[in-house]
Amino acid sequence: MAYNVTLIPGDGIGPEVISAAVDVVEATGLDINWERVDAGVKAIEEEGNPLPAYVIESIRRNKIALKGPLTTPIGSGFRSVNVALRKELDLYANIRPLKSFSSLKSLHQDVDLIIVRENTEDLYIGKEQMINDNKAEGIKLITRGASERICKYAFSLAQNLNRKKVTLVHKANILKLTDGLFLECGRQVAKDYPDIEFEEVIVDAMAMKLVMNPQAYHIIVAPNLYGDILSDLAAGLVGGLGLAPSANIGHDAAIFEPVHGSAPDIANKNMANPISAILSGVMMLRHMGKFKEASWIERAIETVLEDEDSRTRDLGGQLGTREFTQKIVDQINIYKKVEGGAYDKEV
Ligand code: NAI
Repeated sequence: MAYNVTLIPGDGIGPEVISAAVDVVEATGLDINWERVDAGVKAIEEEGNPLPAYVIESIRRNKIALKGPLTTPIGSGFRSVNVALRKELDLYANIRPLKSFSSLKSLHQDVDLIIVRENTEDLYIGKEQMINDNKAEGIKLITRGASERICKYAFSLAQNLNRKKVTLVHKANILKLTDGLFLECGRQVAKDYPDIEFEEVIVDAMAMKLVMNPQAYHIIVAPNLYGDILSDLAAGLVGGLGLAPSANIGHDAAIFEPVHGSAPDIANKNMANPISAILSGVMMLRHMGKFKEASWIERAIETVLEDEDSRTRDLGGQLGTREFTQKIVDQINIYKKVEGGAYDKEV
C-alpha cells in the first residue's frame, strides 16, 4: 500500500536534512508518494506568501507531513510560518523526545525523556503591541481547554509507553493566573491516572535539575514557551540540536520536523547533521504503524555512530550530510536483507 505524505523541504539546511530523511525512509522499502510543497523563503519569493493555501490543503488531505525548518525573517512583518501551521491545523501537542546515544560522549548518558509542549497558545499567540516608544507588552494566553488537553495527552502517553512519572513545569508562584490555571488543570487530570506519579516543578528549578540529573525525568509537560526552551536545553544534554526530532500532533493531522532551525551558517555546505530529521521520520513511521521500519532506522543510526569516523562535524566527525546518510542507508539494507519481515510489533 502506498502512503501519501506532504513534504516541505524548508529553508537553509532544510532541503539537505529532509532529503536525507527521505532517502533513509525509502531505504526501508516503504512505498511513499511524497507530495512536495514549498513554504517559507522559497514561497515568499514565488508567491509573496510564506504559507500558501495549497500547503495547508496538502497537509489536510494527506494528514501527515515531513517538514524541514523554515526561516522566520526577523522584523519583516511575516509571522512565524511554524506557529501559523500549528495554529491553522490545531496541532496542539508538540512531542520532543530526547534520548542519549550510548556511543556518543554527550554531557549525560542514559537520558530518555519526552517533552510534551502545549503548541497553540501562551506568548506564542503573537498578541504584542507598543504602548508608546518605550513600552511594549505581550499577552500570555492560557485556557482551561488547551491545558487539560495537553495534560491528558502527556498522561496518556505515559500510560502507553509505560512511563512512571509526569512532571509539570510552571511558574505559578509569579504568574498566578495563567500558569496557575495550567497547574490546576494538570492536578485535575493527574487524578484520573493514579498509577502515574505526578510532580510539579517551577521552570527555573527545572532548568537546573535537567542539567544536573536528566535521568530522573520521563515525561515533562509544559506550556508553550517553557517547553520550547527546555527542549533545546535537553537537546544540549544528549549531543546537540542535530539529534532532536519532534512531532506536532492534532486530531486531524500531524507534522514531523527536526527541532533545530534552518542554520544559515552551515546551509548548502553538506555539513548539517541529518539525524534529527531522520528521527522525525522515525516518529512519522511509528505514527503510521510502521514499527519494524522505524526500528531499523533507529538501530542503523546507533550502529553507524559507534564508529567515531562515521559522524558529522557537530559530533566530532568528518563526514558530510550525504556521506553519513549513505552509511545509514547501507546499514538498513543489511537489516532488510537479514531480517526482512521478521517482526512487526513495536520494539
Ligand atoms: P538553528 O537551530 O538554526 O541553529 C542554532 C545552531 O545550531 C547553529 O550554530 C547551527 O549551525 C547549529 N545547528 C542547527 N541544526 C544543526 C544540524 N542539523 N547540524 C549541525 N548543526 C546544527 O537556530 P537559529 O540560528 O536560532 O535559527 C535560524 C532560523 O531558523 C531562524 O529564522 C529561526 O526562526 C528558524 N527556526 C525554525 C524552526 C522551525 O522551522 N521549526 C525552529 C527554530 C528556528
